[in-house]
Amino acid sequence: MMAAGCGESPRPVVSNGAALFRENGCATCHGARGRGDGPSARGTAIHPRNLSDRNSYRNGASAEAIARTIAGGIRNADGSGMPAFAHIPADERRAIAEFIVTLQRRAGVPPALREAGETPALLRKDKS
Ligand code: HEC
Repeated sequence: MMAAGCGESPRPVVSNGAALFRENGCATCHGARGRGDGPSARGTAIHPRNLSDRNSYRNGASAEAIARTIAGGIRNADGSGMPAFAHIPADERRAIAEFIVTLQRRAGVPPALREAGETPALLRKDKS
């Protein structure tokens, strides 16, 4: 269920999220613009996700889903994946997630839909 009222979060959260994205080392793997091209990207068994591509997300591309991914990380059967960042406070995870959603712009999702955390059926082909 989509929570009502989530379109009201104030914008400063996003610039805060950008700073937290750097400070917590996300950019080391994902790159400053989230393209999956940070300096540590070569060292990972699986390529860090290009966060600008909405369709590449496995666990959901809404701010809510991303905040959850940050907390739990991604663990694959072969031991690869992404570390969990459960130590980051929930409001900061959320701020990072909101920043990441702004990186998805090029997928062409209208801002109103982004706010609602929804993907138009057209773009929703990321099953599995
Ligand atoms: C050590 C390198 C590394 C760091 C540091 C890292 N990531 Fe990742 N991230 C990855 C890899 C690798 C994947 C793809 C994992 C997979 O699909 O198995 C990924 C995937 C993701 C995804 C996509 C999730 C999905 O649903 O597919 C998001 C969002 C994400 N990372 C956000 C972050 C954020 C935010 C931070 C900082 C708090 C961060 N990452 C730090 C390596 C990293």
